Amino acid sequence: MKYSLSKIVESIEPSGIRKFFDIVSEMKDAISLGVGEPDFDTPWHIRDEGIYALEKGKTFYTSNAGLKELRCEIGNYLKRTQNITYNPMHEILVTVGGSEAIDIGLRAIINPGDEVIIPQPSYVSYVPCAVLAGAKPVIIDLKAENDFRLTPQELESAITDKTKVLILPYPNNPTGAIMEKNDLEAIAKIIKEKDILVMSDEIYSELTYKGKHVSIASIEGMQERTLLINGFSKSYAMTGWRLGYACAPEPLIKQMTKIHQFAIMCAPTTSQYAAVEAIKNGDEDVELMRRAYNQRRRFLLHEFKEMGLECFEPYGAFYVFPCIKEFGMTSEEFATKFLEEEKVAAVPGTAFGKSGEGYLRISYAYSMDNLKIALERLKNFVNKLRAQ
Ligand SMILES: Cc1ncc(COP(=O)(O)O)c(C=O)c1O
Repeated sequence: MKYSLSKIVESIEPSGIRKFFDIVSEMKDAISLGVGEPDFDTPWHIRDEGIYALEKGKTFYTSNAGLKELRCEIGNYLKRTQNITYNPMHEILVTVGGSEAIDIGLRAIINPGDEVIIPQPSYVSYVPCAVLAGAKPVIIDLKAENDFRLTPQELESAITDKTKVLILPYPNNPTGAIMEKNDLEAIAKIIKEKDILVMSDEIYSELTYKGKHVSIASIEGMQERTLLINGFSKSYAMTGWRLGYACAPEPLIKQMTKIHQFAIMCAPTTSQYAAVEAIKNGDEDVELMRRAYNQRRRFLLHEFKEMGLECFEPYGAFYVFPCIKEFGMTSEEFATKFLEEEKVAAVPGTAFGKSGEGYLRISYAYSMDNLKIALERLKNFVNKLRAQ
């Protein structure tokens, strides 16, 4: 049979993250520091609610927008953490992970030819989702000397009369960078002046190590132009439950709900019941996990310093982004050789955009025991390279 497939889908590259992990799974004694998912089990009381929901026979579709109780709890959570008020009936949509929210958010916003500003290095799905929505991605290469924060100058020089939306990826995957209130205020000023939207991916909002996360939606005049995306995967160690949410003004949520309705129907019912428990009673678990991540973060930074490996101090998510430029290899070459010779997998910075060249993403969502062995191997590797 002769047939052609979608040119636009064919033009998209698959994610560069997975490649290494397929090799790792086949390699004896290999350690992975690559996957961006918590190593903790979902706290027991949250799992228990999921099981209870199944036992009670709650095995049906929920409303398209998600359980009302969950939307109300999401509203309460954003009120108590960010002092933002969302109407759970019209301004909150429960999605299949933050991933779905990114996809349908862009699809609901974009008209063909609109420009989407994407600061990089950043999460791998922004560019493909923007392209699939018919947008032209406009990349801002973030700089290590600015601690990978987005500066007002960088934003201003990327804006054109076609700019529709800025993706704001903080706390950041892969760099671990955060944006503090004053950074966000400077960005918000431009957003308002230029009359554009912000899609703020706050999936790591609970994992910060220097003060609390501030949402750009909490800045005056910004809620009406922000699509806030968050979810349960990272904060509550619930990646496999596939649950996230989007909060935005009613007209945008209304359009997103149509796509969600036809493509997804509703987010998984069991997960929604578990998520009610997570968001209502999970603060202590989040704090325990955050402390454990922070301990690992500090250990890694200390070890890099001992090795003389340059790394800016990241204050968010669970990643460090050391610089490997001194070794004169590309990130891909470094990561491949490191895996082959020392059996440790880390992700080349370029998997997150070309400005990730010269860096390596190391996830510390792994046990201290694993991190210690991996860092010993890294020390070994770095010493060998320096001796050559
Ligand atoms: C920055 C960022 N946003 C969104 C996601 C998607 O997460 P999920 O779909 O599990 O909520 C991820 C996952 O790695 C991420 O790192």
